[in-house]
Amino acid sequence: MPRRTEIFGSVKIHELQRILKLDSGGFENPRAKDVSFEEIKDILRRLAIVIPVKDEKIHLLDGVLRAIPFDCSVIVVSNSERENHDIYKMEQDMITKFHELTQQEILCIHQKDPELGFAFYDTGYDYLLDKDDLVRDGKSEGMIIGMLLAKSLGKDFIGFADADNYIPGSVREYVMDYAAGFCMSESPYSMVRLHWRYKPKVVEDRLYFKKWGRVSETTNKFLNLLLSTSTGFETGVVITGNAGEHAMTIKLADIMSYSTGFSIEPYHFVYLFDEFGLKAEKISYPDAANEGIEIFQIETLNPHLHEEKGEEHIKNMLLGSLCTVYNSKLCNDYVRSKVLEELRDILDMWEKPKANIVMPPIGGIDASRFTKLLESNSETYVWFKQGTGIESELGEEDLKGESIRSV
Ligand code: GDD
Repeated sequence: MPRRTEIFGSVKIHELQRILKLDSGGFENPRAKDVSFEEIKDILRRLAIVIPVKDEKIHLLDGVLRAIPFDCSVIVVSNSERENHDIYKMEQDMITKFHELTQQEILCIHQKDPELGFAFYDTGYDYLLDKDDLVRDGKSEGMIIGMLLAKSLGKDFIGFADADNYIPGSVREYVMDYAAGFCMSESPYSMVRLHWRYKPKVVEDRLYFKKWGRVSETTNKFLNLLLSTSTGFETGVVITGNAGEHAMTIKLADIMSYSTGFSIEPYHFVYLFDEFGLKAEKISYPDAANEGIEIFQIETLNPHLHEEKGEEHIKNMLLGSLCTVYNSKLCNDYVRSKVLEELRDILDMWEKPKANIVMPPIGGIDASRFTKLLESNSETYVWFKQGTGIESELGEEDLKGESIRSV
């Protein structure tokens, strides 16, 4: 159980929780919560896991797919190359074979599919389109696509798993941790964010089990500073500012705004602080405010070993995080000056950071219309149903075909 919970307006942030046993024995213990496998199973059936992917090693994506429990639906949103090497085709072929063997429900789509851009346009949500009416590059943009597909499947929960994870067993744990978090939640508006116990790195030929990444350390410090300066009480409760591995109830996903690219995760906090925090000027979602928004932060048992994307990528992520803090409604002159100092010291950036692009809530989009448009027109959208092979209208021969689509 969390030792303490920090309450900020309608937002409840639970302190870090640790996994005592991945598979527990059902014993009562006042300091720990036992979550039965039946309860977890019930959540898994109502959960879709979105895998955003961009040009990752196919073996890694394959391992991630195999690790996600069968009861969940999987949604792969790819922004992989299609021009020189059609990596998306490789991904789709792998997924097709995987589905033939496992019969797990999987949806996949390519982010740059023009019909996807049209489906967003048609359903009145053009905030993530570029000048050619295609969906912009960006992990956040891919995640929004995934969320809509999850909604069209009628799911209650949505979780995210990166495709570049070297340890499939850890991905399985992430999904179980999401489910356990939802079992503990008392509000229909809740979020589970994972904190990795270790992020191993190779240092001088040896594995070093590092606890904190540079970006997360800075992001957490500034998100905590926003809270501390608003309440007047110092806090360090936020430790999952950059949690790429996180999950939400669909009810919460519907009312969140989303910041572009990699700033999506720190912006979750900024949005919730701004809209539901102590200083919120107008409450746009009174039901959520009354129920309260619960944030669980769970430390995983498994370490996180993933592909390293280089210094430039780290800097961009850091910039994205600091921009969200700088442009928060809670950000006062003191925090602003600290952000600018950090930008100068770490990124050698001297100008004020521009606000990130923010996309409004997706709750108003007609998700079934959105998917129907994809089903009838899209070349890259595929829906492999659970246990039934591919869509019933397709026969044996189609299963061997190269481009298999839902009709
Ligand atoms: N669909 C889609 N579109 N997926 C993308 C895109 C895109 O434009 N860009 C990246 N991805 C996918 C990657 O292929 C990977 O599966 C996942 O998004 C995360 O991207 P990485 O480039 O691997 O990010 P990272 O590992 O440095 O950072 C991750 O962890 C951070 C926490 O430490 C991300 O999840 C961050 O958002 C997170 O803050």
